[in-house]
Amino acid sequence: MSATQMITQTAAPKVHHVGQPTWRATRPKEPIPQFLIDEAKVQTKQSFDAKRHLNYEPPSKIFTMEEIGLQGQGISPVAVTAPFQLFTEEAIKQMRAEIFSQDVLDNCLYMSEFVKCTVRGMGSARAPFTCGAWNSPEVLAKVSEVAGIDLVPAMDYEIAAINISVNDQTIPIFNAPKSDEDEFPAFAWHRDSYPFVCVTMLSDCVGMTGGETALKTAWGEIMKVRGLAMGTAVVMQGRYIEHQALKAVGGHERISMVTSFRAKSPHVKDDCVLTGVRPISNLSELYSQYTQYRLEVLEERLRDRLKKEQRREFAKRSFNIADVRTFLSEQKEFIESIIEELIE
Ligand SMILES: [Fe+2]
Repeated sequence: MSATQMITQTAAPKVHHVGQPTWRATRPKEPIPQFLIDEAKVQTKQSFDAKRHLNYEPPSKIFTMEEIGLQGQGISPVAVTAPFQLFTEEAIKQMRAEIFSQDVLDNCLYMSEFVKCTVRGMGSARAPFTCGAWNSPEVLAKVSEVAGIDLVPAMDYEIAAINISVNDQTIPIFNAPKSDEDEFPAFAWHRDSYPFVCVTMLSDCVGMTGGETALKTAWGEIMKVRGLAMGTAVVMQGRYIEHQALKAVGGHERISMVTSFRAKSPHVKDDCVLTGVRPISNLSELYSQYTQYRLEVLEERLRDRLKKEQRREFAKRSFNIADVRTFLSEQKEFIESIIEELIE
């Protein structure tokens, strides 16, 4: 089945609000340890170069939505990959230098009920290497290949959310209800705001246990995946799979980069929401980028539909009332979903 045929298949799963979210950004209470800032410094700033910085090795296994009982849901048949090598160590060092730069620490640090310390919205002026990496055709081709669908970053703002924890400081801020399977939940069970996510490990993970992403299958079984070394990544269809991050124990630090993706094609259904990201974002920037990409999607859909109508008339086929009504209703719902996300 092609992705386009899935447009009206199933309603998007709800992204739950946890607790009573404040929708305003909050800065973390504790400063970033100085040693992280000192160690992240690099001699020379580089531009992203796929030949030098990409070190892709295909994942040993790609789990399908069908294998976890979620067939027919989502925008691709792929659920999650086994960890695979994506970047060189040199590339990760360049990213870390940008993350721990003064400009980023002054402007891009957030905390929320979900996460104690996260860096978001670095943008290409503060993080040209990181943004260059995630916009590079070579990287996008590899991520798309393992995701089973052509992807682009959800928007510039979502090119990188970096979760930082030092030793065992990833204390759960939200007290998720414990169950036997939960072991060490760092964050509550949730679904993401965007269809696909690529989680890249920026730490060396020496001496670290835990820190996996746990996924729930349709029959309640728990699967765990984790990037095992610096520069490895996991790609997951997080919008449609219930998952949680497990607490990491031991190790020097755990820094992971989360990049969110949406389908490249404007004709694939778009269930993106802003529920999980609103409290950890500069709302003005987030809303502006969200509105722009949604309008672009709409523009492409309308342009395409107009051409289809013109071709139909030219070919002297009769007007299809039901088909046009369905298309317009879908676009009306799409516009309504934008309005719903743009809350004060
Ligand atoms: Fe998530």
